[in-house]
Amino acid sequence: MLSASLIKTSPDFGWLNDVSIGSFFGRREMGAAYAAVEPASESPEQPFYHESILLDEVVQFLQPVAGKLMADGTLGGGGHTEALLKAGATVKGIDRDADARAYANERLARFGDRFEAVEGRFGDIATLAEVRGWEGLDGILLDLGVSSHQLDCGARGFSFRLDGPLDMRMGGDGPTAADLVNNWSEAELRQIFWDLGEEKFARKIAAWIISEREKLKFERTSHLADGIEKLLGRRGRNHPATKVFQALRMEVNDELGELRRFLKVAPDLLKPGGRLAIITFHSLEDRIVKQTFRDASKEEIDRPEWPAPQPNPCYVYRLVTRKGIAPGGQEIARNSRSRSSRLRVVEKIQNLAH
Ligand SMILES: C[S@@+](CC[C@H](N)C(=O)[O-])C[C@H]1O[C@@H](n2cnc3c(N)ncnc32)[C@H](O)[C@@H]1O
Repeated sequence: MLSASLIKTSPDFGWLNDVSIGSFFGRREMGAAYAAVEPASESPEQPFYHESILLDEVVQFLQPVAGKLMADGTLGGGGHTEALLKAGATVKGIDRDADARAYANERLARFGDRFEAVEGRFGDIATLAEVRGWEGLDGILLDLGVSSHQLDCGARGFSFRLDGPLDMRMGGDGPTAADLVNNWSEAELRQIFWDLGEEKFARKIAAWIISEREKLKFERTSHLADGIEKLLGRRGRNHPATKVFQALRMEVNDELGELRRFLKVAPDLLKPGGRLAIITFHSLEDRIVKQTFRDASKEEIDRPEWPAPQPNPCYVYRLVTRKGIAPGGQEIARNSRSRSSRLRVVEKIQNLAH
């Protein structure tokens, strides 16, 4: 049995209000759909963890079949991995979160040695692959961000609706959100609220944090969330601390740094013809993925000062999706968290000249 801490509690971000309700019902629908194909997707004892986004599209693009070796860099509740396993592939599922690995191990035990849950960060995937001897991957998936379980479990400290320690670490290592809020300068805090949260009141919130922490250090999510709510008041349906919590989460977990480190090594890990699929939820992430895929899929590059175009030394991919794939209306209606998601897919080209 899984620990009680995995039991879903209550929703978090504005969009998660609907998400949690939507995903709860969504899971029941999904469970019924799976039942017709194969029993026991999530066993009855397993509490809800996360509803997988763009699931059919991921399977369609990654083309899993028996004999293919794939890595899921964001295992989470194991929903995408399960679909790849059902189609016959062997899957190495990486997650830095022990709750995710425990949950997925239980959910996917029936696939025997075709599945392995691996502790680590996807930014370190080259080292993980080398140490474990994964040679020539046929597919890699990243489904970025946090799981519903992480958001909905107050003790993890991601939630501004549920009181808990101001933590926000996906793995157990490194500085917590409280460390940042209590020790970073006003300018540093302002910068991340602005850059990662796109928070227009970044200046006001950072100034308030500095004066507030002189009186009382921040230790609980409620101290930060309630304080921001008092400072800004309520407008619209989203909690006024939404963007600050998002920025702190992204910084604590170095989410953009992880993505950049992964993108540098991914081509070396894929077989020719192997595919890479990435689901993003944030415009900053999506821009990084889009630009990297675009730059690596041009055979030639050109500059006005050159007499002629030259071969692109970074040419390694063919674009499988020209535009980011968005979820359909039905999926958004069932799971509103999927609304901002975009799926981009590339394929490693077969005959590289360099
Ligand atoms: C959106 S959830 C994945 C859900 C999963 N695709 C499913 O269908 O259940 C993202 C997961 O990725 C993990 N994660 C995020 N960044 C990571 C990183 N850099 N390295 C390893 N795991 C990471 C989180 O801990 C979380 O469990």
